[in-house]
Amino acid sequence: MYVCVCNALKVDTVRCLAAEGLSFEEIQAITNCAGNCGSCREFAETVVESVHSLQQNRPVLPFLSPA
Ligand code: FES
Repeated sequence: MYVCVCNALKVDTVRCLAAEGLSFEEIQAITNCAGNCGSCREFAETVVESVHSLQQNRPVLPFLSPA
C-alpha cells in the first residue's frame, strides 16, 4: 500500500524509517513524501506517529531491565 502515490512511497518504507527513529520531517527530506501534491501528508504523519507511539509504549522485558 502506498502512503505517497506521487513518490511511489510505501507504508512499509515509512514504517521502517520511523522505526529507525526518523521524524516525519527527516523522512520527508529523504523521500520527498508530501513534497508534490501534499495530499498524503496527514496519513504519512499518522503512520510515523503510530510507530513512535508503539515504540514508547513497548513493555520492557523484566530480564532486560536495569537492576
Ligand atoms: S501523494 Fe504524496 S505528494 Fe502527492
